[in-house]
Amino acid sequence: MIGHVYVSRRLTAAPMAALESRGVPVVVHRDPDWPPSRDQLLGAVRGASALVTLLTERVDAELLDAAGDALQIVANCAVGYDNIDVPAARCHDVVVTNTPGVLDEATADCAFGLILATARRLVEADRFMRTGKEWIWGPQSFVGIDVSAGAILGIVGLGRIGMAVARRAHAFNMQILATGSGAHSRKAAALGVQPAKIGTLLRESDIVSLHCPLTPDTQHLIGAAELAVMKTTGILVNTARGPIIDEAALVEALDGGVIAGAGLDVYEREPQPHPRFLELDNVVLLPHIGSAGEATRNAMGQLAVDNVCAVLNGDPPLTPVTE
Ligand code: GLV
Repeated sequence: MIGHVYVSRRLTAAPMAALESRGVPVVVHRDPDWPPSRDQLLGAVRGASALVTLLTERVDAELLDAAGDALQIVANCAVGYDNIDVPAARCHDVVVTNTPGVLDEATADCAFGLILATARRLVEADRFMRTGKEWIWGPQSFVGIDVSAGAILGIVGLGRIGMAVARRAHAFNMQILATGSGAHSRKAAALGVQPAKIGTLLRESDIVSLHCPLTPDTQHLIGAAELAVMKTTGILVNTARGPIIDEAALVEALDGGVIAGAGLDVYEREPQPHPRFLELDNVVLLPHIGSAGEATRNAMGQLAVDNVCAVLNGDPPLTPVTE
């Protein structure tokens, strides 16, 4: 017997309507703006055949046990799946899917927005304008880093999103260094990407942008030692996952002039940014909106729904996590 599909937060209208038209019972967490508590989640998944989860839900053995034997698929509506214990899902015979491909351009737009906003101090300048203080054009006011005059961008993790950032950087006349297997591809070479080891990339880049997944190997990939080798004029941008950066070390580096600025969309203890970021002018803070374009969010939701429908129909999932 097919159980319900539990959706841990209402998706955008089109994928929601598509799911609700499939003839399976759908249970949606009531609050569209806040995730279910752990207790609510453990109760709501009982007897479910499919879960549509977000990166705010921890999917582990306890949750999979709570769901019970009917559960066939966890469709994470995100490309990252560090919130899911994939080996535990495998042990429970539950398919895990994510939403790769459909959010590359939106996330790259956001990363590039952070690069420009941080390098050219746009948010700081906007904050200044809102003070109503007297001002006049000045040769030294709000001077930042030139981006399109051949600045070097270091892309850590040249996968799909990293490549979309590289395309933008190429159009902006930047030099590009990158780590990751994609850095050796023909596509990367066509954009002028030079493969580099992480140490060289950190040392030589004017702007470092993180695009690797969060894994045990990348947790705190950027800490005090790595920040110390960056240029003092350097900028760090993170639209990947917060725990890739040791936030306490980044706060010290920003406050102490070890690097010049940071643009962050993600946080180590999300949704809490390190409280000292709020006191610093040289960091731009966004509330994890990398994929928040309308068409992108529809496409992510639709892909999650298509994965659920495929698996409940006995067909292979479209985008399984195969780690
Ligand atoms: C967003 O952060 C995602 O992983 O899709």
